[in-house]
This record gives sequence, C-alpha cells and structure tokens, in this order.
Amino acid sequence: LNNGLARQPPMGWSSWNAYKCDISEDIIKGNADRLIELGLRDLGYQYVVVDDCWQERNGRDESGRIITNNKTFPSGIKPLSHYMHSHGLRFGIYSDAGKQTCQGRPGGLGYEDIDARTYAQWGVDFVKYDNCWNGFLPYLDRYGAMRDALNRTGRLMVYSTCEKHSNPWEWGADMSNQWRIGVDLFDTWESLVRVADDGIGIAHFSGPGGWNDFDLLQVGNGGMQFQEYRAQFAVWSIVKSPLMISTDLFKISPRDLSTLKARELIAVNQDPLAIAGDVVRQQGPDIVYGGPLADGSRAAVMWNRRWHFNWPLNDCEHPSGNGTSSTPGLCGPLSVGRNMTLRFEWLGGGSENRWPNAEHFHSDTRALVRDLYEEGDLG
Ligand code: GLA
Repeated sequence: LNNGLARQPPMGWSSWNAYKCDISEDIIKGNADRLIELGLRDLGYQYVVVDDCWQERNGRDESGRIITNNKTFPSGIKPLSHYMHSHGLRFGIYSDAGKQTCQGRPGGLGYEDIDARTYAQWGVDFVKYDNCWNGFLPYLDRYGAMRDALNRTGRLMVYSTCEKHSNPWEWGADMSNQWRIGVDLFDTWESLVRVADDGIGIAHFSGPGGWNDFDLLQVGNGGMQFQEYRAQFAVWSIVKSPLMISTDLFKISPRDLSTLKARELIAVNQDPLAIAGDVVRQQGPDIVYGGPLADGSRAAVMWNRRWHFNWPLNDCEHPSGNGTSSTPGLCGPLSVGRNMTLRFEWLGGGSENRWPNAEHFHSDTRALVRDLYEEGDLG
C-alpha cells in the first residue's frame, strides 16, 4: 500500500502466539519493557501489537464505539499506546473484517469509520485486520472499506490483512502493507515446512510498502528445537516476511534470544534494496533460497530438510539412506550466507550456540550451493 509506511518489513512483538486471549495491559507493558531491556527494540523490533481479546465480548456502546475489556485493560488503550510512544516503540491493535473477530469479539464490518477514528484518537500505528465471520462478503470490499477509513483519518497506520485463501499477494500491494499468505503457523516443524512451502514462488509480489506475511514468529515458544527456530528465522529473513516476535519475553532462553538477535539476518531482512528472496533450487530434502542485497552481494539460505527425518539432535540421515549417521553436527537445519567477491562467507560458525556453517552440511548440499553460485543463480 502506497502510504509511505513499511518500506522495509515491519518488525515487532505480538501477543498472540504466547498468550492467546490471556492478555492484560500489564502483560503487554511488561513485554514491551523486556523488548527494550533485552536490546530488541534497538535492533529494530518496534511495533508492539495487541492481538485479539482486548475488547469486551459484546463491546459496542450506543454510538457504536468499541469497548475495551476494563478488567484486563483497566487504564484503557490510549494510555497503553502512549506508554509505547514514550518508550520509543509503536503501538498496534487487532480487529477483523467481519461481524466478529476469530475469538468472538466485535468485528469491524460496518464500523470501519468509527473504529478507524477511534484507533487514530488512541494513537494506533498498526492495525491487524483478520478475516473471521465475514459472511462470505467479497474480501476486496471488506478490506477496502477499512483501508479507506484508515486513510480518511489522516493518521498513518500500517495495515496488515489476513485473507488467506484467495492468493492475497495478487491484490495485496494495492490493499495493505502486509498480507498473510496462508494458514496459521503452529509451533511445529511440520507447520513451519508447510507455511514456508506455501510461500515459494511469490517473492516478486513483495516490495517496499507491501510484504508477504508468513505469520508471526514461533521462536521461543517451546514446540520446536532451537535449530528449527533458526530455520524459521533465516527463511523469514530472506523472504522478507515481517519479523514479529510472539513469545513470552520473560521466559525466553538465551539461545532463542540469540536467534532473534542475529544481526546479519536482520540486516538481510531490512536491506535497503528491499527485494525479497525466493527459492532458487530444490533438490530432494535440500532447498536453497537466494536474493540480492543493496551492496551487490547475494544472500543465500541453505535449508537442509534432512533434519526433518532426524532425531535426536545433531544426527542426520546418512546419504545412503540406510539409517542415521551418529556424527554430531554432520548437518544442521540451515545455513545462511552472503557472497562476497568470489567466495561464500557463511554467517555464523558451527558451535552449538552459533549458526551451523557450510562445513556442517552434507557434501551434496554444499556442492549444490556452489553450483548455484557459479551459475550466477542465487537470486
Ligand atoms: C487468526 C489469526 C491469528 C490470530 C487469531 C486471533 O487465527 O490468523 O494470527 O490473530 O486469529 O483470534
């Protein structure tokens, strides 16, 4: 959407994956404080977004104005938004292009103008607009109505849409600043692979002002191994998905935190050239993403999905296919690189707390990446 916002993919924190409906102003403020203490704000994670359930269940007054749940948000939304602004953060909120939100709170359909004005008065900077209870009304009308209402307020707000079934990348660029590309991402490897696969081949629809949204990050939530979360973070970075942390920042482990703080990957995601990377080769379980960067180099993510079949950690399927190798670290789930002049420089080393490097990959995978590089085919 050409509103001047989201020239790079938005970064921030969302309440949904960790807290679902169990939110309060204290939880939101507390996580915002942690974002700052942990150094995440200063790495670019700026938007603090309250997802579903901040509203009262039947929450509209006689004039149609939305009512906040005053047990969980006793101070109201405006002071919360002010809190973010006074801490160098931006504030986001959630609603839905239907009669109700996905959790049965009042939706925005038919209330676009009054809601948009309310958000503007509250100082909202980001609106996530979901797709539940939509009565099968045309999505372009429903989403267009809120886009236009937000525009009429005169306040700039990032507009994030969630219509997931109609190839939203085909119409997203005129509609919103980011559009969800598919089903919800759950905290499992299978779900991660599925969402990533749904995003293959659509990078060229992304660009400054409008991004393919692969969904919130699951890093830190405990359902996957830390290496798997690194796979998510690396893929999300190179495809230039918005990077929205969605975990409890009071409980995050140092390892998962280091994943969210991987500067080289954030730099790829936020690169000024702003061209999204895509899959350049898929060969058996190996998948390689490539994409150009502003300095003329190319980023690559080599994602070794042999991992998929292998437990415990650090065990990889043997190339012969009969059983597993017991050599620790023979392959990892991914590696990320940036080519310099004539060679690959892999980001990160190979020790447990760092990212696996090329040496930790199966030689077939390495050969594949080298071929791609030599063929000039990395994005
Ligand atoms: C949908 C969205 C999620 C979250 C919930 C809230 O499932 O895809 O990201 O916002 O609704 O109810």
